[in-house]
Amino acid sequence: MIIREKDFFKEYIGVWDEGAEKDAPFITLGIEVLLKDYYGDLLDAPPPFPMKEGEFILDLGCGWGRVLKPVMDRKGIGVGLDISGKMLSLSRDHLKKNGHIPRLTRGDGTRLPFREDSFDRVYSLLVLQHLSKENGREVMQEISRVLKEGGTAHVRVPGRFAPENLLFSFLQFISIHVFRYRDPIRMRFYRPGEIRRMCRGIFSNVEITAHEFRPPWNFHTKWTWHYILVPRFLHRPLRKISDRLENLANRHLGFLKPFGVVLMIHARK
Ligand SMILES: C[S@@+](CC[C@H](N)C(=O)[O-])C[C@H]1O[C@@H](n2cnc3c(N)ncnc32)[C@H](O)[C@@H]1O
Repeated sequence: MIIREKDFFKEYIGVWDEGAEKDAPFITLGIEVLLKDYYGDLLDAPPPFPMKEGEFILDLGCGWGRVLKPVMDRKGIGVGLDISGKMLSLSRDHLKKNGHIPRLTRGDGTRLPFREDSFDRVYSLLVLQHLSKENGREVMQEISRVLKEGGTAHVRVPGRFAPENLLFSFLQFISIHVFRYRDPIRMRFYRPGEIRRMCRGIFSNVEITAHEFRPPWNFHTKWTWHYILVPRFLHRPLRKISDRLENLANRHLGFLKPFGVVLMIHARK
């Protein structure tokens, strides 16, 4: 990463390698039933962006291949890049098990090991939030460099003002500044204006969509406290409210966007 402090860099990668070891039983031991239970309808969900058959697509920070698989199922030519060797090895197993030929590379998103104009599409989900904002901008510059002219990037970051994220960021502040907890992969939250500034001069067109208007109704997986505590008969109506708010924010009431738990950046080169 551009802020290259060797020890920090090692520790940072170590956390992801450890994470891969924790995920491993779900994936490497072939306990796909558990995987389905854990990720619920997020597993094998269609990619959260439009794509076409035959497109050359980079998944930056692919992890264990959660999204790379549905991309390849839809006949995208998917390439996965990750900073963690152990994540890549999970990804390799997961893709092979599902009948795909993995194309995977170890690398850092702030220095992509690809030539200019290589990809039709680049996406990066749940990655920028763990990087400093300076490194985040560097990643966006690299994405633009490896995209073909007219190609599109889809980058997911957490919204600054979603109540759930405000609470998280308050607790994180306490744990870092009061309890002195060192967290190499701490979360960063983004405001729409900040995203536009970050992309200025890098992309020709930037659109931001907002998603997941909660709290507190995350019912995608059975393993959240919401799913367990909120009575089952309320799940469907609460989900409907969330979908409706999302629709309103992205179609008519743009001022609601900053309250989305998730912001998706769609940027064209
Ligand atoms: C929270 S996981 C998300 C995985 C996957 N994108 C998904 O949505 O399931 C973050 C992933 O990004 C990878 N990562 C973190 N920093 C990175 C960097 N600078 N360059 C490339 N990959 C990185 C981690 O190793 C990890 O696999």
